[in-house]
Formats: sequence, structure tokens, C-alpha cells
Amino acid sequence: MTDRYAVVGNPVAHSKSPNIHAEFARQTGQDMAYERLLAPLDGFAETVDRFRTEGGKGLNVTVPFKEQAFAYAGNKTARAQAAGAINTLKFDETGVLGDNTDGAGLVRDLTTNLQLPLNGKRILLMGAGGAARGVIGPLLNEQPQTLVLANRTVDKAQLLANLFGQGIMASSYEALYGQRFDLVINATSASLQGELPPLPEGLLNPDALAYDMMYGAETPFMKWAKLQGAAKVSDGLGMLVEQAAESFFLWRAVRPDTRTVIHMLRAA
Ligand code: ATR
Repeated sequence: MTDRYAVVGNPVAHSKSPNIHAEFARQTGQDMAYERLLAPLDGFAETVDRFRTEGGKGLNVTVPFKEQAFAYAGNKTARAQAAGAINTLKFDETGVLGDNTDGAGLVRDLTTNLQLPLNGKRILLMGAGGAARGVIGPLLNEQPQTLVLANRTVDKAQLLANLFGQGIMASSYEALYGQRFDLVINATSASLQGELPPLPEGLLNPDALAYDMMYGAETPFMKWAKLQGAAKVSDGLGMLVEQAAESFFLWRAVRPDTRTVIHMLRAA
């Protein structure tokens, strides 16, 4: 019987995950189906329960249910614990395993696809919501020289930094003035509103990469980075495909080829 998977969210119609997983399955010859599952805003657990009863093997979880998925999972990976949110659920006889593959997806996109080793680098991460929290652990594991977490509401950045202890420093945007970074990552939701975080000028080292976790149209942050002379500017499409590949690996124990899928999505 064909194994069933899905992405659950609200809204979910825009999700590219079904296309990505269909391509992974085709490439690796896995007998699986992957659909979209719209859960009512007050009915996440019921929707997941039903999917499991029908024999579903796993789910990707998107907005606004990643924290509820955290509560739902009986077992969690260490990286899911650190992220405080779950984007991947796996169902089997032993129960429900929750994982978070967002940070691993970002790191793989940065180090493999964009060829920027993070060891010894100066990294600026903007934002202190769930998107930022999901990637801090995996970024710190790469042993950068510095990880600065900047947020408009500095207290929120400080609380988040405290969860991770050594190696990360909270900051306001103003206090960044005069500092330089090899990598600047936008994990705020500013791009969604067509806004740019209040970044001072002159933040980028000559080889710097500017990375927006959003994808689709060029964001104000990406435009800003080009004007500031960034050596490379990237959206988050690669991260999207890489986090999907990590989920696929958790479910199927097979690693798909992500590059062809990234190219396919860029072309479309
Ligand atoms: P998500 O789960 O996507 O991270 P969130 O928890 O709502 O969403 O967090 C949004 C983040 O984007 C916050 O860090 C927010 O900053 P504040 O905590 O100061 O509100 C940040 N953000 C949103 N719009 C922004 C803007 N125009 N400039 C800078 N930061 C912005």
C-alpha cells in the first residue's frame, strides 16, 4: 500500500511541499503520496488524529501549528527541543516522533549549496520569533566566531539568547553600528510586510552573504544588501527544499538530490 504523508497548516494551499516531496519520491523510487491538509485553527490535534487513524505515516507542519505540534509529539529530537517547535512528525507503532529540520535545512543550504563554511565566521541573525529560534542551535553547532541576535524588541532577543547560553549575543539594531559580518540572515517577518529591519549601513564584510529566509519575490532586505555591496544575496528557497529533504530522510531513510529540485522550482 502507498504510504501517505501531508503538510498540515492554515492556510496551506500555497505550500510547495507537495511538489517537492513528489519530486523526491519520483527520484528515489519511493512508493508514497503527499497531500495538503487544511486544519481548522482550533482543530489541529483532531486533524492529526484523523490522519493517523487513516494510516498516515508522517506530516510536515507549517504556520500556525508548529508550537501545537511540539505539544502533540510524545517523543522529540534534541533539535526540536532546542527549537521549541516542530515541523516534522513521524508516526509508527512506537508513537509520535517530532523533529525540527528548519535549522539543518538552513545550514545545509548555506554550507553546501552556497558554499559558505560557517566555522569562525561572524553571523548576524535578525528576528527573535519562532523562525529565528528554529535555526539558532544548528548555527551554533557550526562554531561561528560570533552569533549576534538583533531584534527591535531587545528583551525578546535577550530571552531567546539566554536559552542557548554561550556563543550568542542579543543586540539592538542601533548597537550594530560599526560592526561587520560575513553572513546576515533575515529571520524576521518584515519581508512579508514589504519592510526592511532598521539596519545601519556598512555591516557587510567584502565577501559577505545576505540571506533572507523568505522566498518568492526579491525582498527589501535583499535589495538593501545588493546596494550595500554584498558578494552574494540569496532567498530562502534552498532552505525550503533542504528542510524538506531532512524530513524525507527521517521518514524514508533515503537522501534525495536537492539541487535538481531547487533548479526545478527556480525555473517554475
Ligand atoms: P515568526 O514565527 O515568523 O518568527 P513572529 O514570532 O511573529 O514570527 O516574529 C516576528 C519577528 O519579526 C520578530 O522578531 C519581530 O520583531 P519584534 O519582536 O521586535 O516585533 C520581527 N519583525 C517583524 N516586522 C519587523 C520589521 N519591520 N522590522 C524588524 N523586525 C521585524
